[in-house]
Amino acid sequence: MAAPIDESVRADFPILSLRIHGHPLIYLDNAATSQKPVTVLNALRRFYEQDNANVHRGVHELSNRATDAYESARARAAQFLNAPSKDCIIFTRGTTEGINLIAHSVGNTLKVGDVILLTEMEHHSNIVPWQMISQRTGAKLAYVPVTGDEGLLDLDALDRLLPTAKIISFTHVSNALGTINPAAEICARARRLGVTTVLDAAQSAGHMTVDVQSIGCDFLAFSGHKICGPTGIGVLFARSELQERMQPWQGGGEMISKVDLFHTDYNVPPHKFEAGTPDISGAVGLHAAMDYLDALGRDRIFQHDVELAHYARSQLAQFAGIRLLGPEREHSGLVSFVLKDVHALDLATMADRQGIAIRAGHHCTQPLHARLGLPSSARASFYFYNTRTEVDRFIAVLRDIQKYFNG
Ligand SMILES: Cc1ncc(COP(=O)(O)O)c(C=O)c1O
Repeated sequence: MAAPIDESVRADFPILSLRIHGHPLIYLDNAATSQKPVTVLNALRRFYEQDNANVHRGVHELSNRATDAYESARARAAQFLNAPSKDCIIFTRGTTEGINLIAHSVGNTLKVGDVILLTEMEHHSNIVPWQMISQRTGAKLAYVPVTGDEGLLDLDALDRLLPTAKIISFTHVSNALGTINPAAEICARARRLGVTTVLDAAQSAGHMTVDVQSIGCDFLAFSGHKICGPTGIGVLFARSELQERMQPWQGGGEMISKVDLFHTDYNVPPHKFEAGTPDISGAVGLHAAMDYLDALGRDRIFQHDVELAHYARSQLAQFAGIRLLGPEREHSGLVSFVLKDVHALDLATMADRQGIAIRAGHHCTQPLHARLGLPSSARASFYFYNTRTEVDRFIAVLRDIQKYFNG
C-alpha cells in the first residue's frame, strides 16, 4: 500500500484556511470543483508577468515563450493520460465542451436509426449534446440501465445493447453515485464490435491513474478545474487517426492553414479543433496542476479519497432513516445520501452555516435521480486535502441537523 498523504498538503491551499460564517471552512464539494494549490496560482501569475502573448502567431520572443508554454502543457497532458502523442490532445473549455466537440464532429456523421448508447447515470453534459445530435441526424438514443440504489451498470443489458450501437459514451466515475465503471472492459467489448468509445473522465482524471492506452478508449474528456487547475481549460484525448477523419466544429483563427474568400484549408489536427485564441494561461495552470498531482501520486490520492468516503459512509449508515446511494464497495471518493424528513437543500444550507460546503440537488443527473425516484440528494465529495477530523465534524453537524428536524 502506498504511504498515506500527510495533512501538511493543506498548507499548499490558501483557501483552506478561510473561516466561513465564523467556522473553519470544511470543503466537501470537490466533485463540483477542486481548490487550487499555490503552485498553480504562481504559474498563472508568472505567465502573465513574464510570458504573456498570443500563441502560434508572432515571431517575437514573448509569443514564442507563450507558444512553448502552451504546447508544453499539451505534451504534459499527453503524459498525464499516457497518450501515444501530444497530437492526441485537444484543449477545450472542459469536459462539457469536449463531449460537445465529439458529438458535433463525430455525431454529425450518424444516420437515421443509428444508435448512440449512453447510461442512466450520465451527467447532463453527456446527455444533452447527444440529444441535440440525435434531433439533427435522426440517430436514436439508448441507455444502459443502472441497478437501483447500489448504482452499478447492468452489464448484461450493455451486452444486449452494444451490438446495436455506433457510439457509446459513458462516465468513468459517476459524480452522483461514486460508481467506478469498468472502462477498459466496456471499451474492449465495444472495440470488438467496432463501436466508437467516448469516456467522460471528469470525476476520474484527477483522482486515479487514467491511462488511455490501457483503457483503450477512442475519446476521453476531462476538466482542469476538477483536478486543481483553473476553470476554463479542459482536455480532450482523441485518437490521431480519428481526428484526421473528423470535421472541425468551430471556425476561426488558428484552425486554418489557408483562407480565401470562398474556401478554407484547415490546419492539421489537433489545431483544426482549436479555433480562436485558446485559454493559454489556463493550459499553463493546468500544467502546474498535473505536476502537482503526479508529484503527490494519483494512486495515493485515490487511496486517500476512497478511505475518507468509506469512513463517512460507515458513519452515515448509523443514521436513522438514511438512504445511501451508490455501491458500498469499490466506489470513488464521494458519498450521496438522502435523510428522511430533511430536504437536501435545507441540509446543505444548514451545513453551510457551520462552514461546511456540500452539494445538494440533482448534481446535473436528473434522469438518474428520476430513475431512483428522488428529486434530489446530498453529496459530500472528498479530495486529498480533506481529513478524518473534517468528516467527524460533518457527521456531528449532520446529527444536529437531523435532531432539529426530527425533534
Ligand atoms: C461526470 C461529469 N461529467 C461532466 C461534468 C461536466 O464538467 P464541466 O462542467 O467541467 O464541463 C461533470 C461536472 O460535474 C461531471 O461530474
